[in-house]
Amino acid sequence: MTGTENPTTTTTTTTTDPDTAALESDLREGFFADPPTLPPRWFYDEKGSLLFDQITRVAEYYPTRAEAEILRARAGDIVGAASTVVELGAGTCEKTRVLLDVLAAGRSDARFVPLDISTEMLFETARALEQEYPGLRIDPVIGDITALEGPLPGEPGGRLVLFLGGTVGNFSESQRDGFFRMLRGIMAPGDQLAVGFDLVKSPDRLVAAYDDAAGVTAEFNLNMLDVIARTVDCTGLDRRDFRHEAVWNAEESRIEMWLRAVREVRIDFPTLGRGRTLAAGEGIRTEIARKFEPHALIDELAGHGFGGQAVWTDAAGDFGLALVVVD
Ligand code: TRP
Repeated sequence: MTGTENPTTTTTTTTTDPDTAALESDLREGFFADPPTLPPRWFYDEKGSLLFDQITRVAEYYPTRAEAEILRARAGDIVGAASTVVELGAGTCEKTRVLLDVLAAGRSDARFVPLDISTEMLFETARALEQEYPGLRIDPVIGDITALEGPLPGEPGGRLVLFLGGTVGNFSESQRDGFFRMLRGIMAPGDQLAVGFDLVKSPDRLVAAYDDAAGVTAEFNLNMLDVIARTVDCTGLDRRDFRHEAVWNAEESRIEMWLRAVREVRIDFPTLGRGRTLAAGEGIRTEIARKFEPHALIDELAGHGFGGQAVWTDAAGDFGLALVVVD
C-alpha cells in the first residue's frame, strides 16, 4: 500500500508487546511471592523448544521413550473410530506419528489439529506433516492449552484429544482441576481423551530425569532467565548468578525445578516499579512435575465426567496412558 503521510495528524503510540505484558503480569503474580515462582511457559522460546526436544533424547529422561512404547503398542485402541485428532501442546509430534499412521490409513476425511503456543515450531511441524501425510488434513492452531475456547474442531463425538508427555503433571492440583473442567466444557459426549502421566518411582531415577549428566535440562532451565531478560525491562538478571536444581518433594509427590542463586542477587523491573533481593542459596521455582499412582488420574477424570477408562503402562511400569471418553 502506498499513501501520503500528513505530519500534523501523525500520532505516536507506544504499544506493549503482548509477550512483555503477559510476562509482566506473571512476574507481578509469581516473582514477588514466597517462594518466588516463574511459570513454565517462559521456557519455550525457539531455543527452549529445541532444548526440550533434546531433553526427550537424553539417557536419563525415560518418559518420552516409555510413552512412545505405549503409543506403538496401543495405537489402534487409542485412535479407534476418531475422525479428528487434536493434540494439545503438539511440539514436533514425534510420538504422535504412530497414531497419525493409523488415522490416515483408516479414513479419507481424517483431520489432525496440532495446537501449540510456540508458533515457529508449530508451523514447521505442520509443514512436515503435510508432506508426510498427503491424505490427511492438517489444521495447526496457535493456542494456550490452559485457556482454550470451544467448540473444538471436528465432529462432536468423533474427536480424540491427546495430552501427552506427562504435561498434566506440570499443573498444580487446582490448575489440573480447572483444566479438566475446561476440557469437559469444550468436548462432546463420545469424544475421547488420552492423557500421558508419569508414575511414582525411586527418587534417584526421578531426580536424574530432571538433572541429566550432560546438563541439557540445566541449560533449558537457565534459558528461561535469558527469555525474561530479553522480554521485559530489567536490571541485575544474569544467568551466571544461578544454578539449576531438581528436587523430589515426597509430600507433594512431585519433582520441582529450581533456579538457585549462587550469590546475593538484586533484580529490578523498572516498568513494574519493583525489585527483589534474593539471598545466596535462595531459589526461584520454575516447574513442578507431579508423579501419580497408577489409578489416581483415572479417578480424578471420572469425577469430571470422563468414563470408560483404560490405563496402560510401558513394560517397565515407568509411565502411564489413560484413555477416557466423555460420558
Ligand atoms: N512435561 C515434561 C515433564 O514434566 C516437561 C519437562 C521435562 C521439563 N523436563 C523438564 C520442564 C525440565 C521443565 C524442566 O516431564
